[in-house]
Amino acid sequence: MSTTTESTEAKRRGAFSSRRVFIFAAIGSAVGLGNIWRFPYVAYENGGGAFMIPYLIALLTAGIPFLYLDYAMGHRTRGSAPLAFRRISKRTEWLGWWQVGICFVIAVYYAVIIAWSLKYTIFSFDKKWGSDPESYFFGDFLQASDIADGLTLDVVPGVMVPLVLTWIAVIVIMALGVQKGIGATSVVFIPVLIVAFVALVVRALFLPGAIEGLDTLFTPNWEALSHAGVWAAAYGQIFFSLSIGFGIMITYSSYVNRKTDMTGSGAVVGFANSSFELLCGIGVFSALGFMAQAQGVAVDEVATDGIGLAFVAFPAIINEAPAGALIGVLFFASLILAGITSLVSIIEVVISAVRDKFEMHRLSATLVVTLPAAVVSLFFFSTSTAIFVLDTADKFINSFGILLVAVVSMLVLAWVVRTLPAFADHLNEYGTVPVRGWWIVLISSITPLGLTVVLVKEFIDTVKEPYEGYPDWLLYSAGWGLAAAVIVLGILASVVRWRPDTPLTVPPADIGEEVER
Ligand code: ALA
Repeated sequence: MSTTTESTEAKRRGAFSSRRVFIFAAIGSAVGLGNIWRFPYVAYENGGGAFMIPYLIALLTAGIPFLYLDYAMGHRTRGSAPLAFRRISKRTEWLGWWQVGICFVIAVYYAVIIAWSLKYTIFSFDKKWGSDPESYFFGDFLQASDIADGLTLDVVPGVMVPLVLTWIAVIVIMALGVQKGIGATSVVFIPVLIVAFVALVVRALFLPGAIEGLDTLFTPNWEALSHAGVWAAAYGQIFFSLSIGFGIMITYSSYVNRKTDMTGSGAVVGFANSSFELLCGIGVFSALGFMAQAQGVAVDEVATDGIGLAFVAFPAIINEAPAGALIGVLFFASLILAGITSLVSIIEVVISAVRDKFEMHRLSATLVVTLPAAVVSLFFFSTSTAIFVLDTADKFINSFGILLVAVVSMLVLAWVVRTLPAFADHLNEYGTVPVRGWWIVLISSITPLGLTVVLVKEFIDTVKEPYEGYPDWLLYSAGWGLAAAVIVLGILASVVRWRPDTPLTVPPADIGEEVER
């Protein structure tokens, strides 16, 4: 393959200008809502300080190895998720489309949380939520209906406007392309996020009650380590948080110069993500410790995660804390910065797949993907049933989407198409962390086995007890139905023919040596 052809290919598909930009983009994708609002509570609930053991084991035995698998696939085959799988074997293309479907679903609701954060950044200045943040969020802001009344699609203008703005920002970034859009955004947003979050953590650490908060988070409950659920939580957290199993890292690594140390980069990304996660735990529990002291209750009584943490507990903290508005702006701005850099990575999986399959220009593919995503997002999530649909879709697509596709793809790549040794050779060519037999054993056996145990447990729990007590119609549509639909759509999309000009075999080893600067 001549250098000219390589450059033309890089120009057509897009490329990161350097390893540094790729690392920023990968950290940008990994550091997201999962770190800020999910990790602290997952850690607290699953053994506190003792949780660090399953968490570290999950990072080292599943997180980093799977990250390497994603990197090897994208970097070696130089394709979006479906093209990468197609180039390995015709029989595996559907796995790539399954990941594309998962990303479309996640993007649609992830954008909504960024939109809420946008509004709450502004609300922080005058504490618009008043003295009862919970009723304000669900009642006045979301105008949430009673789920027992069924699907009510009354438009909530207060959510619609920031949601439109969020999608406009995403469309602009995506239209600008891999380097000027995603790369440039990550290089600017990630350092700003780190500064904002460190400032927030320092402020929180000096609040009265912070030490009790940290004590609650880190006091180890060693007995927890004997519960399968704790290990399940650790593996689930690592997959969502590191952005693995979504096709994101396959896509991003297809934009990286071939002579790049991918394994060293992966180690940087993995440890940066976990360090930020730990920082989030410290910041969030210091703030919760303060809130507990201010309300004269135990930290356990105020500890929460997700929507409850961000939009109910934090406003309450902001109400009570000195310089509360500053805490609010830092916290919600962090959610926006972390959220946007993750959202662009999620939607890029879909755009890149559509571009590869239909040989579309960047702008056309961006519009073909983002406009329907924005419409679905606006239709479902700026309405009064939004919160329940969002919560259900999030739960099911994480467990029976990301984790399931991860297990299936590891088994297929290891045992059906048997491509792991070739991937290991590829990673070792320029990599600084040697990938040897240990990696093949982990990816082919230990990690899929561990994840299967996690999934079976999740499955039994979810069948036994309706998630959050939601009605069947919701669980069967936005839950089980959605998780199954992305698989069916994945299979159907893989039947559609590729354009005659698209090479469907793994490109020569030297392609991608000279990416466009
Ligand atoms: N990795 C992203 C997060 O943690 C998706 O939110």
